[in-house]
Amino acid sequence: MPTNAIIGTQWGDEGKGKITDCLAEYADLVVRFQGGTNAGHTIGIGGEIFKLHLLPSGILRRGVMAIIGNGVVVDPEELLEEIRMVESRGITVEGLRISDRANVIMPYHKILDGAEEKSRGPNGVGTTGRGIGPCYSDKISRYGVRIGDLMDKATLEEKINMIYPIKEGMMTVFGAPTQDTVKNIINTYSSYGSALGKYVTDTSVLINDAIRNGKNVLFEGAQGTMLDIDHGTYPYVTSSSCVAGGICTGAGVPPSSIKEVVGVVKAYTTRVGRGPFVTELTGGLGEYLQKRGCEFGTTTGRARRCGWLDLVIVRHAVRINGITSLAITKIDVLSGMEELKIATDYEIEGQIVKDFPSSISKLVRARPIYQEFDGWKDWTKDETEKIISNGYKTLPIEMRRYLRFISSNVGVSIGIVSLGPKREETIYLRNMKWEN
Ligand code: IMP
Repeated sequence: MPTNAIIGTQWGDEGKGKITDCLAEYADLVVRFQGGTNAGHTIGIGGEIFKLHLLPSGILRRGVMAIIGNGVVVDPEELLEEIRMVESRGITVEGLRISDRANVIMPYHKILDGAEEKSRGPNGVGTTGRGIGPCYSDKISRYGVRIGDLMDKATLEEKINMIYPIKEGMMTVFGAPTQDTVKNIINTYSSYGSALGKYVTDTSVLINDAIRNGKNVLFEGAQGTMLDIDHGTYPYVTSSSCVAGGICTGAGVPPSSIKEVVGVVKAYTTRVGRGPFVTELTGGLGEYLQKRGCEFGTTTGRARRCGWLDLVIVRHAVRINGITSLAITKIDVLSGMEELKIATDYEIEGQIVKDFPSSISKLVRARPIYQEFDGWKDWTKDETEKIISNGYKTLPIEMRRYLRFISSNVGVSIGIVSLGPKREETIYLRNMKWEN
């Protein structure tokens, strides 16, 4: 059963888009199963950079079917804009399929996202403002509008007539009244339904048929384990299930259908938004990583907080997701640094803590326990090509020590090392023996 999942092990932005794009070469279907336009995947192909928010990364590979599963929240306006953007750059989207069960981000979700954040004051989550939380809340409260409803005007009318007065009331409570009208919303969203209709289907049937017929199916996670609604740093999380378990509900496939789970680990740690970050570097080193790693949000442009690699987090992700191999990304960003650190455990009030705690107040008091490593020399662009073509053994010994430590500490072998944003800047280590 050739299914593969790609999951972020940290707070998102691990470089999943590039890894998905690399593995999509062997895929027939690439499936997104959660999140929405809060995601931001940056993929470099040749000299071109593509920034995707909602379209699965597989859309950039000819012949790949790119599926937006039922667990995704779809902003139709943004999706149509993204389709226009990729088409204007010569990419065809005929392989796009959207689940008729996916929930729709409505204008009031975006307004309420901003208003709720504002009302939280200094305790705000730092959301992307894309309406994600309010849309998932409505889904769970059964006030959701689904993609299928956009193509059925009578149902859409019935739903909006019922839901909108409630939302209007909420917007007024939050001090964010709107000029929008029921009629406007119905007309605009049914026109989105007409534009997207040709892509809409029961994607669960499509995916399960593909699996049964031996097709290669790749599940593309957005965000990361630490932003998961259950297993992340709650409440500083997104509102979806970003972990491998979310694939079953978000794509409509059984647990037994997920074979390989690739955990994407950035060689250091970043996060956007608020919340505890035990290995955060607040001084010059943090700024250095931010600049060198171009750590600015694809979706919001916000500067990402940066810190040392934290293996307490990665082990948490390995356990929850059943990760079977690691893809280490952005290790090139660390080149040229004299000394590096990796957190292996935390110390909280004199106790050594190995498992990621659920309590935010404990996390705030946690001190990282570091292992130190020698750095390795920086290299030129020409050397990168040579190193990549000669493979893992050509990597500096210090880098290999750093990589080997990650793998042995978390108990999972490394399948991919990414040395830059481009497809070509990738070393595959499948079946390699860790000899050095
Ligand atoms: P929301 O998903 O917009 O509700 O934001 C909730 C939290 O998740 C905020 O801290 C965001 O910055 C964070 N977040 C959402 N999507 C991403 C992502 O793709 N990368 C990194 N952080 C994200």
